[in-house]
Amino acid sequence: MEQRTGHISPADLARQRDYTEQIAAVLRERDVPPLAFVDTYGCQQNEADSEHLRGMLREMGYGFTDEEAEADLILINTCAIREHAEHRVLGNVGALVHTKRAKPSQIICLCGCMMQQQQVAQKIRSSFHHVDMVFGTHALWRFPELLWRVMSRRTRVFELTDEPGSIAEGLPVARMDRVKAWVSVMYGCNNFCSYCIVPYVRGRERSREPEQILREVRELVESGYKDITLLGQNVNSYGRGLDRPIDFSDLLREIDRIPGKYRIRFMTSHPKDASPRLFETMAACSHVAPHIHLPFQSGNDRVLRAMNRGYTRAGYLALVEAARANIPDLVLTSDVIVGFPGETTPEFEDTLSLIEEVRFDALFTFIYSPRPGTVAARLPDPMTRAEKQVNFDRLVAVQNDISAEKHRAYLGKTVEVLVDGLSTDPRNNLNARTPGGRLVHLSGPASLVGTFIPVRITGAATWALTGELAAE
Ligand code: SAH
Ligand code: SF4
Ligand code: F3S
Repeated sequence: MEQRTGHISPADLARQRDYTEQIAAVLRERDVPPLAFVDTYGCQQNEADSEHLRGMLREMGYGFTDEEAEADLILINTCAIREHAEHRVLGNVGALVHTKRAKPSQIICLCGCMMQQQQVAQKIRSSFHHVDMVFGTHALWRFPELLWRVMSRRTRVFELTDEPGSIAEGLPVARMDRVKAWVSVMYGCNNFCSYCIVPYVRGRERSREPEQILREVRELVESGYKDITLLGQNVNSYGRGLDRPIDFSDLLREIDRIPGKYRIRFMTSHPKDASPRLFETMAACSHVAPHIHLPFQSGNDRVLRAMNRGYTRAGYLALVEAARANIPDLVLTSDVIVGFPGETTPEFEDTLSLIEEVRFDALFTFIYSPRPGTVAARLPDPMTRAEKQVNFDRLVAVQNDISAEKHRAYLGKTVEVLVDGLSTDPRNNLNARTPGGRLVHLSGPASLVGTFIPVRITGAATWALTGELAAE
């Protein structure tokens, strides 16, 4: 059978299904069906990966639980983006010593980006003896084989080969939601922003074949999904290396032709590869949400260069102008890092002035965290954590005012929202999203979940809106 470069062959995938069947046969012998606890840290890519791992577990015969103590298998899908994320994982894994002591047959597995780093895997091997299995991002599709090894030989398994990465099509999937779904369009990253660990733990950039993506989106729409997010670390470089010449705008146009009432979103867009053609396409495609997440990271050209971002402040501002010219109701969100090594307070103030100039709807703000092995981790970093915190707090205060002001502009308007789930707030039992993705709290029958309805916006806060059902 023909095998495209970087694709796992059908024979290899079939072998994994054999392992799944072997595990299922053993588990069927039990009196009560086994339970798995799956915990996911990090970005949507990890959420999407966990849905595949859950799919594999389900095929093996596992049910799912939210209680570590009653689980027969614990699987933690980890994130390495910042030190804080790693500390949380290590703290929680450390605490599992107690659940394993109470239930010695419990199998504890760690996977994901953090485990793709050799030094982390070594630490688990030497200091976390209750962990049975560690595998990195590249071995995800081989989970059944690795689990079978743990079960049949009762040994610890560490599977950490470093490789450029591959694409495994047709893995099982157990989705967490019935309204919203993730669809990866590409994997890995080639950008090597100097602060970022992702290219080291996710491998080289590779795109799925458009036919596979279209098939998946069509199936989701046909089975009732209403909000589909296309995922990639830099969706704007989609298509490089594929036989058929196709870019992300072409892909959006092809997806948009799938009939039905649904919204398409995507993340993340890298400014260096975003183009006016993308914005024209967004405007032309009726299913594509008027939202773009366009991380700028810094408003200062020297810092942007040191970050290896590949664009300037002026270039970024020009993109925003082009985006807004094409999509009048555009919701614009972004990521920013405060305290990159060597960033001075005047340089930080360029970031502040950029957010005042652009006026983002919402911003994800991070204090720089050194990642071992990256270029930035070797740069001198004279500013103290306390000084960085002062700058960070200034930025958050400015942005909170902007977010609140942006939300106030919705007051009194009627917008078509997608009710996407139930909330825990008894006064506003439903959560919904505007076309641009802003969160709306409202009250109404639970049967509205999964429907598009007009809502009048009656309240506005920094992070969310409130609304009431509008007469049709
Ligand atoms: N591929 C996406 C970003 C993925 S990581 C892009 O390029 O836009 C999500 C965000 O985490 C980044 O946008 C950045 O703001 C932040 N981030 C990444 N590495 C970081 C680090 N070492 N310290 C602090 N924030 C970081
Ligand atoms: Fe990290 Fe940059 Fe790649 Fe985004 S584009 S994942 S920030 S290296
Ligand atoms: Fe974290 Fe890996 Fe995503 S490092 S942010 S889970 S790609």
